[in-house]
Amino acid sequence: MKTIIEPFRIKVVEPLQVRTREEREAIIRAAGFNVFLIPSEDVLIDLLTDSGTGAMSSLQWAGIMRGDESYAGSPSFFHFERVLQEITGFKHILPTHQGRASERILFELVGGAGKVVPNNAHFDTTRANIEHSGAQAVDLPIAEARHPRDRHPFKGNLDVAALRTLIERTGPEKIPVVMCTVTSNTLGGQPVSLENLRAIRKVCDQFHLPLFLDACRFAENAWFIKQREPGQRDRPVKEIVREMFDLADGATISAKKDGLVNIGGVLLVRDEALFQRACNLLILTEGYVTYGGLAGRDLEAMAQGFQEVLHEDYLRYRIRSAEYVAEKFLAAGIQIVEPAGGHAIYIDAAAFCPHIPPAQFPGQALVAGLYRHAGIRSVEIGSVMFGGAGHPPPALELVRLAFPRRVYTQSHIDYVVEATIEVFQQRDKLRGLKMLSEPPALRHFTSRFEEV
Ligand SMILES: Cc1ncc(COP(=O)(O)O)c(C=O)c1O
Repeated sequence: MKTIIEPFRIKVVEPLQVRTREEREAIIRAAGFNVFLIPSEDVLIDLLTDSGTGAMSSLQWAGIMRGDESYAGSPSFFHFERVLQEITGFKHILPTHQGRASERILFELVGGAGKVVPNNAHFDTTRANIEHSGAQAVDLPIAEARHPRDRHPFKGNLDVAALRTLIERTGPEKIPVVMCTVTSNTLGGQPVSLENLRAIRKVCDQFHLPLFLDACRFAENAWFIKQREPGQRDRPVKEIVREMFDLADGATISAKKDGLVNIGGVLLVRDEALFQRACNLLILTEGYVTYGGLAGRDLEAMAQGFQEVLHEDYLRYRIRSAEYVAEKFLAAGIQIVEPAGGHAIYIDAAAFCPHIPPAQFPGQALVAGLYRHAGIRSVEIGSVMFGGAGHPPPALELVRLAFPRRVYTQSHIDYVVEATIEVFQQRDKLRGLKMLSEPPALRHFTSRFEEV
């Protein structure tokens, strides 16, 4: 069959509120053309993020009821621990409340002034936690990642030659860990190949450095490996996942992505001494080691979610959704970061509205246009997010459409495609924006605009 169906049926529905065009016009103006300031009830299709926005399965909800809320030694923790041990092969599994809590614990222990942490491309919270510790975060993507139209199958790969040069120049004693993010959110949801992970491992072994994965989207990455890497097609995703983790000494995970839960995180550590120190810090700042800032029911939901995400029917449908949108956009002449990422599509907003200069925020204008036209919420990743005083202008003006897991159906996706193409066909009507107010940091969350 050519048709790839959602491999689930729907038992509980959440009605969507349909606003009229006039209502949306008033809402976007009241929000100062910033969709972060729109109440989510006024959004029809919410593609702001794939993080923590997924739908849980009936078995996960059953786990929520089964959750044991004992402070210490809860059976829900041992269930979670056993599942994560089976999937990753790690002995030491620590629960945290979300990905950045795992990052904060890791970098409080291994970061510090004078240290340097390489990565294919740090996600914002990883970079912020490294810098908060006093260390420096360095991105080492391959050259192809900088070209939106380059269709390299593993655009998330880390530049191994650049890693070696960085280690030699900095001195291995100043590098506490080498990181690699699978898939790379910052580079457009692009995967990392097994070949690249093995090559990074080799360099780490040569300099006696630990390799840590930022493994938020480990299952989506493994699916890409199965589809695209020579010799991997016949391997079960589970086996590929296991090889990815076998190559690492530790991992930080936000379970809000491939854990298929709305809240939760994991820290994996192989080194015994580091694990003991992580336990002490977890107890100090998150909670006791058998709940780590979560409820027992959350641990049950994670235990089930981490197993479900490895179902290949699910991964086929998941990755195909983004590819489908990419094909339709490209056929209509809408330029995107190619190939499609795992969790999102990134529209090239500068190409979409060439009549709007970067100083008038073409990405933000498109985000406002998609909301106004069809109630779709996306997010600008360009001059609003990364620009401002003291920052060089970003290389690309992008708009991200991120897909929540198991939430929207094919007709929702078709609606998004149709609406975006309609906005594209009338793109001359999109108007640039002027920023009216700007907070000192992370200005995309709260800044307000008016149309030029
Ligand atoms: C690659 C990556 N790392 C880390 C994080 C942080 O996870 P959390 O939002 O759970 O703190 C995210 C969240 O989007 C991410 O995409």
